[in-house]
Amino acid sequence: MTHARIAGIGSYLPEKVLSNKDLEKMMDTSDEWIRERTGIKRRHIAADDETTGSMALEAARRAIEDAGASLDEIDLIVLGTATPDKVFPSTACIVQRQLGIKGCPAFDVHAACSGFLYGFDLANRYIQTGGARKAVVIGSETLSRITNWEDRGTAVLFGDGAGAVVLEASDEPGVMSTHIHADGEYEELLHVRQGVSIGYDITRKGEAFIEMQGNAVFRRAVATFDKIARETIEDLDGHIDDIDWFVPHQANMRIIQAAAKKLGLPMERVIATVDEHANTSGASIPLALDLAVKEGRIKRGDTLLFAAFGAGFTWGSAMLKY
Ligand code: COA
Repeated sequence: MTHARIAGIGSYLPEKVLSNKDLEKMMDTSDEWIRERTGIKRRHIAADDETTGSMALEAARRAIEDAGASLDEIDLIVLGTATPDKVFPSTACIVQRQLGIKGCPAFDVHAACSGFLYGFDLANRYIQTGGARKAVVIGSETLSRITNWEDRGTAVLFGDGAGAVVLEASDEPGVMSTHIHADGEYEELLHVRQGVSIGYDITRKGEAFIEMQGNAVFRRAVATFDKIARETIEDLDGHIDDIDWFVPHQANMRIIQAAAKKLGLPMERVIATVDEHANTSGASIPLALDLAVKEGRIKRGDTLLFAAFGAGFTWGSAMLKY
C-alpha cells in the first residue's frame, strides 16, 4: 500500500505585530483579560499588500524547498482557507500560477479552522489511491480582513498567517489515520453572516465580519475535543503514550488545555503557539508544526496528533509519524 509522509514544512507570518497593549488603545480591553481568558499575547496582521494568496505562496515555496522537491514534481495543490483572495478563481489556482506550475489539480477547501486538516485528509487519500505523488497542502488566512475591530468579543482573538506541508508518496507511513467531520446544526454560533449569495449590507460598504457566541462555541469546542480524543484513543488501542506531540488548532489556551487533559497528555507534549499567533484558523496547525520543528522540539520519527475544530461546526484529526 502507498502511504503519505510529510516531506517538507514551511510557514509565513506577516511582519506587523499587534500586541494586547496595542489593542488596549483601540478598544475597551486589557492585556490581562485577553491573556487570562485566551492565553493570547500578540498576533500578526497582514500588510495592505499581503493577501491569503501571497502568504500561502511564501509558505508553499518554503515547504517545497524544505522537501527538496522540484516544482514539476508537485501534482496536487490543496489550500484550506475561509478568506480567499477572490470569489474565483480559487486561491489555490492563484498560488499555482505564481509558483509556475501548470496542469495539476489546484483547489480550495473551505472548512473554516479545520481547513488545513480537511486538505490534509484529502491529499492523504489522493496519495494513498495513486492520484498524486507529491501534494502541497496549505492553510492560509487573512482573518484581519473579516474582523470587526469594534467588537472586543472577537477582535482580540484572531491573527493572520500561512503554513504548508509537502506530502509525498512513501512505502512507510507517514500518515497513520485521519478523521474529518461536520455538523451544520450550530451555524449561527460562529459565522460571517454576509456573503456573495446572501448579500452584503451596502450601508457597511460590503464589509463582512466574524460573529461569535463565544461562550457557546467554547463549550462546543471542548465537547468536540472529547469526541476527537475518544476516536484517537480507539485508533491507538488505548496507547496514548505513543503520541509524542499533540499539535492542536490554536484558538484558545484553555481549550487546548482541556483537549490535552481529555487525551491524557501532559502539557509538556503539547505544541502551543496561540500566545504568539492568536487564532489563525486554517493556518494554525502548519504554523505551529513549522515552529516546533524549527525549534528542534519535533523530530523525525516522532508520532504527532493534529486536531482541529472550527465553524460549521467542522472538526477532525490526523495521526502520523513525522
Ligand atoms: N476585553 C475585556 N472584556 C471582554 C472582552 C475583551 N476583549 N470580551 C468580552 N469581554 C467581557 C464581556 O463583555 C463580559 O462582560 P460582562 O460580564 O460585563 O457582560 C465578560 O467579559 C465575560 O464575557 P464572556 O463572553 O462570558 O467571556 P468568556 O469567559 O466566555 O471568554 C472568549 C470569551 C471569547 C475568550 C471565550 O468565550 C472563547 O474563547 N470562546 C471560544 C472562542 C474560539 O475559540 N472561537 C474559535 C473556535 S475555532
